[in-house]
Amino acid sequence: MGRARVVIDPDFVIGQVDPRMFGSFVEHMGRCVYGGIYEPDHPAADGTGLRQDVLDLTRELGVTAVRYPGGNFVSGYRWEDGVGAVADRPTRLDLAWRSVETNAFGLHEFMEWAGRAEVDPILAVNLGTRGIQAAADLVEYANHPGGTRLSDQRSANGADAPFGIRTWCLGNEMDGPWQVGQKTAAEYGRLAAEAGKAMKLVDPTIELVACGSSGRHMSTFGAWEREVLEHTYDVADYISLHAYYEEDGDLASFVSSAVDMDAFISEVVATCDHVRAIRRSPKVMRLAFDEWNVWYQKAYNAAPQRAWERAPHLIEDDFTVADAVVVGSYLTTFLEHADRVAIACQAQLANIIAPIRTERGGPAWRQSIFHPFALVAANARGVSLTVPVEAADVPTARFGPVPAIQAAATWDEDTGRLAVFLVCRDVAEGVDVQVDVRSLAGVRLAEHLVITDPDLRAVNSAQDPDRVVPQPGKSSLTDGRLTAHLPPVSFHVITLERTT
Ligand code: AHR
Repeated sequence: MGRARVVIDPDFVIGQVDPRMFGSFVEHMGRCVYGGIYEPDHPAADGTGLRQDVLDLTRELGVTAVRYPGGNFVSGYRWEDGVGAVADRPTRLDLAWRSVETNAFGLHEFMEWAGRAEVDPILAVNLGTRGIQAAADLVEYANHPGGTRLSDQRSANGADAPFGIRTWCLGNEMDGPWQVGQKTAAEYGRLAAEAGKAMKLVDPTIELVACGSSGRHMSTFGAWEREVLEHTYDVADYISLHAYYEEDGDLASFVSSAVDMDAFISEVVATCDHVRAIRRSPKVMRLAFDEWNVWYQKAYNAAPQRAWERAPHLIEDDFTVADAVVVGSYLTTFLEHADRVAIACQAQLANIIAPIRTERGGPAWRQSIFHPFALVAANARGVSLTVPVEAADVPTARFGPVPAIQAAATWDEDTGRLAVFLVCRDVAEGVDVQVDVRSLAGVRLAEHLVITDPDLRAVNSAQDPDRVVPQPGKSSLTDGRLTAHLPPVSFHVITLERTT
């Protein structure tokens, strides 16, 4: 059994936790929209076709913001196709996912759904096949109060009040060879700067996310961010990061894959600060980690080409206990970077590598990865704290030796609640950890929940939707020292609350 020590002191603050750290993503892809959040003939759907069971689970998940409508999909999307009378909307080919798009669901349906889900919308514009005018038109349609053709068209389409969409993504993964309308950093940087300028001329209150690399593995990673930021530093408010991980026959490396995510964030921060220095800019660029998750991508890439279909079953991965622990470790990593990571969107919300799964006509259910997200979203409040960790290293083939535990903590002065997030990365044996909370007088242990299982491959399913759920953990608090037992491969959320 390993041992570890962690010290928590509310005076050592990394940064305020932005609620949008618990964002998600709805793309027109597979069954995320059609058959996911929207299924008009489902018994749980209301008159607008929105599934109430999926809405209920979205609120339970604690999602705060949702990016829409893509993803790769947006790079060929004509937003005008998705507004106006549904009967008049065109059916088109979606080149990104080799699918047939009916456009029955569009901007107004999404905004209706977002309101009911109680999430902030994050809208992406098409900088693949389209450009400045279409992006500015969409902002005018959505956010301009009225008296122009586009804003009056919105009113005529049923939304008299402007949508007031605050956050906008300037395209998606524009460095990727798979992207329709892929661009070089120079091409994209110029286009994003000019599109962003026009969008902010229409509505100066909006915030913009410039596309970073599609992943740390891209050969242009780093150089892409630098060049894009040199063009967009003044107009953009965030730069995006995307990362997907999978277990590839090496559990130890997978369980520690947040080490890669941590390095990725640090490298993007360093690049932002380099551009800031050479531009002598007072502005600190923040990060939008607007796609992240576990994704068994190798299997998807190896699949043969499909026929054109409507809402095909695409990447509906079944997530294990190990996947849930790893998802907990990614959320812990965002908290460790709360000074720079403002937005993070798990990709995606329903069916597509998702915490929520649906069956045609049947009830929606929670995948294993639903639980770490819901636990962190419900408990991470206030400020994120610097949490020094003393732990032995465990070996990994991919990342070398890594500390056996990962830790983060948040402190909410208003409610007097401390939340501690711990990951045991040791795959062989557990770790007994002592958390020193002597700096917080008068707190009691409120709850300790853990995600782990003797069978790390266990999954939830439509037949057994609660096979993997959080369990009570083992811990005690004596004289300002919290002692917790962390079984191998486990994710913990421990909350303490002020008694006086
Ligand atoms: O989330 C699935 C896809 O992954 C998104 O469409 C794309 O941006 C990324 O490559």
